[in-house]
Amino acid sequence: MKEELLRDVEMVSLALDINGEPTPLLVPVHKTLLEVLREDMNLTGTKHGCELGECGTCTVLVDGQPELSCLILPIQIEGRAITTVEGASCLPRARCSRPIPSRRAMRSVKRWPATCAAAPAT
Ligand code: FES
Repeated sequence: MKEELLRDVEMVSLALDINGEPTPLLVPVHKTLLEVLREDMNLTGTKHGCELGECGTCTVLVDGQPELSCLILPIQIEGRAITTVEGASCLPRARCSRPIPSRRAMRSVKRWPATCAAAPAT
């Protein structure tokens, strides 16, 4: 019994693109994208809900398409652009007039622009 509890967890090395930032990670292979975002990246804007794919509170954009992060393993989306609610707004806020989208808007969006057109060029 004790040996079962001490069994090694298989880890996987990944390079994710989260909110436009290349992000190298070493995470347990069984961890969901939701858990990685909240626990390893401290991106807590993505919320835990049912973790069954029913409530939509964990929605993120993957290549501009809404996906349920509680049902995705990070290894499934390596190399694709992940946008959380934190990344859906432009930074710094003083330079952007576009409002931060609500969680409902995140769930209903069909295609989210990769960059903010409202931000002035630097
Ligand atoms: S937490 Fe409910 S759908 Fe993901």
